Amino acid sequence: MKSFFLLKKTISLFLLFSFSFPISSIAEECPLNNNGTKELGLVVSDRTLASKVGLEILKKGGNAIDAAVAVGYALAVLEPCCGNLGGGGFMTIHFANGKNIFINFREKAPEAVNENRYNILKNKNPKNKAQKTSTLQGYLSVTVPGTVLGLNTALERYGTLSRETVMDPAIELAENGYILTPGDVKLLTEYTETFRKEPNVAAIFLKNNKPYQIGERLIQSDLAKTLKTISEQGSQAFYFGHIAKTIVAASKENGGILTLEDFKHYTIEELKPIECSYRGLKVLSSPPPSSGGTMLCEMLTILEDYPLEQYGFHSTQSTHVITEAMRYAFLDRNLLGDPHFTKNPVELLISKAHAKTIRQHINEKRVTPSIELENSAVRYQKEGHDTTHFSIIDKEGTAVAVTYSLNSAFGAKVIAKNTGFFLNNHMDDFTVESETQNQFGLKQGNANAIEPGKRPLSSMTPTIVLKNDKPFLILGAAGGPHIITATLLTLINSVDYHMPIQEAVNAPRFHHQFLPDEIKAEPDAFSKAITQDLESMGYRITPIDHLGIEEAIMIPSDSSIIYGGKDRRDPAGKDLGCCR
Ligand code: DON
Repeated sequence: MKSFFLLKKTISLFLLFSFSFPISSIAEECPLNNNGTKELGLVVSDRTLASKVGLEILKKGGNAIDAAVAVGYALAVLEPCCGNLGGGGFMTIHFANGKNIFINFREKAPEAVNENRYNILKNKNPKNKAQKTSTLQGYLSVTVPGTVLGLNTALERYGTLSRETVMDPAIELAENGYILTPGDVKLLTEYTETFRKEPNVAAIFLKNNKPYQIGERLIQSDLAKTLKTISEQGSQAFYFGHIAKTIVAASKENGGILTLEDFKHYTIEELKPIECSYRGLKVLSSPPPSSGGTMLCEMLTILEDYPLEQYGFHSTQSTHVITEAMRYAFLDRNLLGDPHFTKNPVELLISKAHAKTIRQHINEKRVTPSIELENSAVRYQKEGHDTTHFSIIDKEGTAVAVTYSLNSAFGAKVIAKNTGFFLNNHMDDFTVESETQNQFGLKQGNANAIEPGKRPLSSMTPTIVLKNDKPFLILGAAGGPHIITATLLTLINSVDYHMPIQEAVNAPRFHHQFLPDEIKAEPDAFSKAITQDLESMGYRITPIDHLGIEEAIMIPSDSSIIYGGKDRRDPAGKDLGCCR
C-alpha cells in the first residue's frame, strides 16, 4: 500500500517536471543565420554576452571549437570569478566525423613545491588572519596556469578561424567594458573586502574603493592589453614572454615559488575521453587528472542494473541506490591522481565486475554508513561560485564541453601587477595533508599528494553522451564535488525520467560524497513522506541552497531543434541558438 502511495507521488512529480516546457517558443525564437536558414548550433554559458560571442562565431561559419575558444576568452572578461586566463580545465570534443578527444589543460604544481612543502603545509589553515598566503590564498596557492595553452592549442589543431577573430570579442569587451547585471554585482560586492586588500585588484573591481552598481560599465584595460598580447603573439607571450615574467616577479615579491622554468615547461595533452555505456548510450567524459569521468562512469555502471524509471523520480528506492553509488564512487575517488605520477585503477573502477561487487554490498533496506567503510569526520563547506562550464554544438554536429576554473571564486585573490587577470588557487585541490580536507570537505588519497610538475586531481566533468554515435547530451557543471553528482543526476533525469533538458537541469538535486555521511538536499528535492522514509532507513538529510550549476544541451534525434538547459541556480547566462 505504502509503495503504491509512493509510486503515485513519484508519478505526479515526474509529470510536473516533464510537461511544463514551452517547446514551441524555442522554435519561434530560433534566429536565421547569414544564409537565411535556421541551421546554426547552440551555445549555453554562464554569461549571456559570452553565449552571444559563441553564437556570432557560429554564424560567421566557425565550428564548435572556434566558438568554444571565443567563449573561453570572453568568459575570462565577463566572469572574472571563474572564467579565466590564470587557471586551467578540460575540453571534451566529439567531432562530426566520429572522432572523440579530450584536452587536458589542468594546471601543474611549481617545481619548487618539495623544498617549500613546510611553508605550504604550515599555511594550510593560517591561524594568523594577516598571513598573506596559504593553499587557498596568495602566491603559494598558485599552480602554473593552463588555460591559454589549452584554448590556443584547441584552436590551432581543430579550429577554422584565426586567433585574432576568436579573441577580438573578448578584447573588445575588456577594452570598452560591459554593463554589469545584478548577478555580476552581487558577486563582486560579496568580495569587496578581499579586493580592498590588493590595490591593483581594487583599482579594477571597485569604483572609488566601493562596489560597482547594477548598470555601471566595467572596463578592464589591463586585461585588454594582456588579451591583445596573446592574440598577437600567441601562447609564447604567456609562457615565455612578458606575461610569465610579470607573474614570476609578483610571485617572488609575495612569498610565492613560481619560476620562469615552470612556465617554460608547462604542457597540455590530448587524451582519449573516458568511455562507458549507459542504457545503450555512449558516455564520453573526463579521464584523470579529473576524477569526474571515472566516477560518473562508475556510478552509471552501478546504476544501470537498477530499474530507476520504475522506481520513480526521487523515490525512496531510486534515491537510496543513487546515493549508495555516489558513496562508493567518492570512496574510490581517493585512489585517483595525475596519471603521470600514479597508476589509476580506472579500468577496474568503471568495470561491470566492480559495479556488481558494489551492488552486492548495497543493502536494499538500509544505509551503508560510511564509517563502516572508513572512520573519519569531515567538515563540509557551502558551495561557492568559482568554476564555469559551457556546452556548444555546431550545425555539423561537432560537440564541445568545456569546464575551466580558478578553484575558489577569484582564485588566489591576487592579480600579478598589471596583467589584469586573477591567478588560480589550485594547490588546494591536492591532498595537502592526509587527514585534512580541502575547501570542499574532500579528504583525499596519497595518489593526489603534492609533487613538482603534477596536476591536482579535479572533479570537473565535461561530458558528451552519444545516441547511435551522434551527440544526444552535452553536459557539465561548476560546483567542486557537486559537479560530478549534478552531472549524474542531469543525465539520469534525461535518460531514465525522459525530462526535456531544461527540466533535467532545473530539477532539485541531492548529493553524497562519502564523508560527511549525509545527503545534501536542495529545497523540494524530496517530499515529506520520502524524507521520512529515507530517515527511517538511516539517512541524515541536510538542506543546502544549491548543488552545482549545470549548463547542458540536448539534441533529440527526431527533431531539428536543439534544446539548451541553462541552470536556474545561476541567474546570469543564457542558451542561444537552436537548430541544425
Ligand atoms: O577542479 C576541481 O575539482 C575544483 N577546483 C573545481 C572548483 C569548483 O567547481 C568550485 N565551484 N563552484
